Amino acid sequence: MKIIRSIAGMRKYSGGARSKGKTVGFVPTMGYLHEGHLSLIRRAKKECDLTVLSIFVNPTQFGPAEDYKKYPRDLKHDEAIARRLGVNAIFLPTVDKMYPPGFCTYVSVEGLSGILCGRSRPGHFRGVATVVSKLFNIVQPDVAYFGQKDAQQAVIIRRFVKDLNMGVKIRVLPIIREKDGLALSSRNKYLSGQERKDALVLYAALRGARRRVLAGERSAKRVVSAIKRLIEEKKGAKIDYVSVVEADSLTEIKRISGKVLIALAVRIGKTRLIDNVIIIKKEGTKAQRHRGTKKKMEIRCG
Ligand code: PAJ
Repeated sequence: MKIIRSIAGMRKYSGGARSKGKTVGFVPTMGYLHEGHLSLIRRAKKECDLTVLSIFVNPTQFGPAEDYKKYPRDLKHDEAIARRLGVNAIFLPTVDKMYPPGFCTYVSVEGLSGILCGRSRPGHFRGVATVVSKLFNIVQPDVAYFGQKDAQQAVIIRRFVKDLNMGVKIRVLPIIREKDGLALSSRNKYLSGQERKDALVLYAALRGARRRVLAGERSAKRVVSAIKRLIEEKKGAKIDYVSVVEADSLTEIKRISGKVLIALAVRIGKTRLIDNVIIIKKEGTKAQRHRGTKKKMEIRCG
């Protein structure tokens, strides 16, 4: 496994691979790897000739009062995992190489960056879009892998890749959870024992919402209220938002139908956690509706 620290070195590695006709799969991360990250690496390994992992805690996506300084880091552990999984190269750029003096060009995805998580994290998605664009330019992957855990991030990345005519395929893979339902996140490390228990309410509430929708609930407002009620029962939980949106465009919807994303962000103590589920709700065909057969529903959860 190659450890590449320079931008020129990374370009050379990818360029060399591509000139030999090899495909490059890319998994961008901020490190402190867990099973969520590993699921992306495993898929890249399966689908591409070479797998490049980047580890870079990107300062421009953290707000001034956020956890950039104390974001968990453990390079030795990450390297060992990457080696075990058969990653071909780890790209480890430094902040001063990624953002040299005079840096002033950003990628801003209008509209999509200001909603949901963007409301309470102004500038966050500008930082994400900027660093991911830079990483794409440096690594020049054929395919890049992201998690549904960060649903809004995935939609924004798909958007700028399309808008800026970047030739990289984006794959978004399902959320990996602990056995008890908690979505894996590097930030779970911040949770105390009690907070860890309280955090289970997030997925419990989302599962409850899924049941309601399956049972025929169509009102987004009622679904949101039910989720909020459950979460508010936990004393240490403070809701940032609970939203029902169209899954690909993130536009707010009133009536649940089609491919819907139910997303939430909640502070458990000082830790802000996010989670979501996707529900695909298909109406019956015209013929079925004519015959008065029950509407067909199909469900998938992120
Ligand atoms: P990070 O939080 O390290 O996540 C790296 C990738 O792992 C993201 O695509 C994220 O969605 C995915 N991921 C995290 N938890 C997951 C889980 N439980 N199941 C499945 N996938 C999961 O997201 C970032 O880093 C950064 O914003 C980055 C894209 C690297 C830009 O700095």
